[in-house]
Amino acid sequence: MPGSAMSIRHILHYPDKRLRIPGQKVVDFGPEFQTLLDDMAETMYAAPGVGLAAPQIGVSLRLFIIDVATGDDEPSDLRVFANPTIVKTEGEVTWEEGCLSFPGVHEEIDRAERVLVKAQDRQGKWFELETDGLLAIAIQHEHDHLEGKLMVDHLGVLKKRLVHRAMVKRSAELSA
Ligand code: NI
Repeated sequence: MPGSAMSIRHILHYPDKRLRIPGQKVVDFGPEFQTLLDDMAETMYAAPGVGLAAPQIGVSLRLFIIDVATGDDEPSDLRVFANPTIVKTEGEVTWEEGCLSFPGVHEEIDRAERVLVKAQDRQGKWFELETDGLLAIAIQHEHDHLEGKLMVDHLGVLKKRLVHRAMVKRSAELSA
């Protein structure tokens, strides 16, 4: 890629307050946006994770990427969701989720089983996708990030407090 080297961005960890800032609409799908997407992909794959939302790297945009093809022998399946709206949901499912902003935390969270999402791709072209399974879970999880909503917000009071304490302790130890 002439002139632009991809780079891994710093992922914000809870309780960083910037994770609470809702994303703004993506209006420019130009070169800067393309570089941002390349950086997000590189950051997500390096972590590694199956999804990454722009607010997680301190970029307040309604934008996330997902790749649920995690197996070594599977081809990559990078999907871009800009300005997404979850139009319809169906059913209920409980899924053990993790988040790159909550290292080491895995919690069971109730989600819709099936979603219909409308979004723009990396060229700004609108598309609709109806899906279930891990992809549907990831879409709901990443979409939350665009609203400043985090996985702890889905937990009961006690579990939320435990995760909060563990993460605060972790960040204190890291900065000590
Ligand atoms: Ni997350």
